[in-house]
Amino acid sequence: MESYKVQQHKYDVIVVGAGGAGLRATFGLAEKGLKAACITKVFPTRSHTVAAQGGISAALGNMGEDDWRFHFYDTIKGSDWLGDQDAIEYMCREAIPAIIELEHYGVPFSRTEEGKIYQRPFGGMTTHYGQGTAQRTCAAADRTGHAILHTLYQQALAHDATFFIEYFAIDLVFEDGKCVGVLALDMNEGTLHLFRGHAVVMATGGYGRAYFSATSAHTCTGDGGGMVLRAGLPLQDMEFVQFHPTGIYGAGCLITEGVRGEGGYLTNSEGERFMERYAPNAKDLASRDVVSRAMTIEIREGRGVGPNKDHIHLNLMHLGPEVIGERLPGIAESARIFAGVDVTKEPIPVLPTVHYNMGGIPTNYHGEVVTKRDDDPDSIVPGLFAIGEAACVSVHGANRLGSNSLLDLVVFGRAVAHRCAELIKPDTPHKDLPANALDKVLGRFDALRHANGGTPTAQIRAEMQKTMQSDAAVFRTGETLREGKAKISSVYDSFKDVKVSDRSMVWNSDLIETLELSNLLAQAVATMHSAEQRPESRGAHAREDFPDRDDHDWQKHTLVWIDEAGQSSFDFRPVHMYTLTDDVDVVPPKKRVY
Ligand code: FUM
Repeated sequence: MESYKVQQHKYDVIVVGAGGAGLRATFGLAEKGLKAACITKVFPTRSHTVAAQGGISAALGNMGEDDWRFHFYDTIKGSDWLGDQDAIEYMCREAIPAIIELEHYGVPFSRTEEGKIYQRPFGGMTTHYGQGTAQRTCAAADRTGHAILHTLYQQALAHDATFFIEYFAIDLVFEDGKCVGVLALDMNEGTLHLFRGHAVVMATGGYGRAYFSATSAHTCTGDGGGMVLRAGLPLQDMEFVQFHPTGIYGAGCLITEGVRGEGGYLTNSEGERFMERYAPNAKDLASRDVVSRAMTIEIREGRGVGPNKDHIHLNLMHLGPEVIGERLPGIAESARIFAGVDVTKEPIPVLPTVHYNMGGIPTNYHGEVVTKRDDDPDSIVPGLFAIGEAACVSVHGANRLGSNSLLDLVVFGRAVAHRCAELIKPDTPHKDLPANALDKVLGRFDALRHANGGTPTAQIRAEMQKTMQSDAAVFRTGETLREGKAKISSVYDSFKDVKVSDRSMVWNSDLIETLELSNLLAQAVATMHSAEQRPESRGAHAREDFPDRDDHDWQKHTLVWIDEAGQSSFDFRPVHMYTLTDDVDVVPPKKRVY
């Protein structure tokens, strides 16, 4: 192995990732007097949060009656009873002050006539425990993520936090079972850096790019999940992958659920508003798992639109140019560029597209990473935190409700800052590490940098994405999943033969894409294997061979470990069916009524 010079930096807390969760955590830590560094592989305002469109949920009641308990109920029901109810209570309660805080930070929310924050209906958001429709999703037109991300970055700059921009996190460093830092590559200078922290916060986003067609940015390569698996820790509920009903056909770009919230609707080749058949109450605003399955069935049964009858129409012409211009300008532009459609005159061609990973790094509602050790299913991993899509808190369970993701970012980004302030005394000195502390992580880095096999990274990635797209899809069967397991394992094995052509350390995109692929591959295996072992249908995991939810045997979180050889092993954690306070006296009915 080449000998590498590694520069060391010492902070109280290291945050990896500068999307909504990472930024909220970073300046929250600085606000509490902790010395915080945020390392990020992209410029902060290019993080994937920027792409979030429709809004952020909170029971403000600006546009009709609402209550955080209704939000709590909807989130549990939306999760198909796999969400942890203590964490859900925390998120839905904290949503209200979190949005007011964002407003005070300067997020340019759209406004009602009276000047209040504008709120639109979103799928699965109801009043009175399923009786009415809630207008709960706070919006900045259809560019809410953009508005929030830029405001959070401005706040971060106003605080004393240090940013290391275009640094790629390679691996976590542990000492005596405690996470003590992270090794990163400065992609611009080509230098290696060890960031020491008493806490390391993974805010690295999801792994949507394990699939061929995803609304996620190309940077969504699950780097945090990859690092955690390599550290010998498990990921949780990886079988639950959300398909957003309305990705643009062919391009995969997101068309916000806010379109249906504003009155848009889906039609099949017969011009029928088919959601009325599948979900007579919620119709087009049923939860995403329900709408994606309905669209897939329509296409399968020959009622898709287009020459190949392989997609669905989303209609918003009737909303008129004024409403579209004011509330949905971004998607009008996306539809024009990526589908060649004028939304005031024609429907948008759409298809369910991978959008969100409900699974991830298991944490409690403080953001502390947990694992199962001996008989303790909530055993804390010292020094390690995770937030945002990288984490599985689990507030989304088997299916996330639209607009609960931006909320999750800010609520748990803030929660981590609070927890770290409780646990860490500013400027606590760091213990020296043994001389060989970095040998393993540097060895892996060096081996990949000099990988001299016969298969280019792009070829292995394409095989992985094709396999995930066809075998871990909206509908799954034992047969497709067993086949998918064999295929994805063989793709995983082919990584031994990967070829990296560029050996340099400076802006070596070949190497970075290979490191990213390694992170994606482990999570692709985790997803396929976890899906195969869960013989029930719950939320986004729809097994045609097991169409019913099985609460007796399977109301539990899957924990999956992936070893270096790509072999999976499993254990389970109980779902938290308890709340934090007695303020929630609602026991949601378990019957599915859509
Ligand atoms: O449809 C959307 O605007 C997406 C929102 C979300 O995933 O939360």
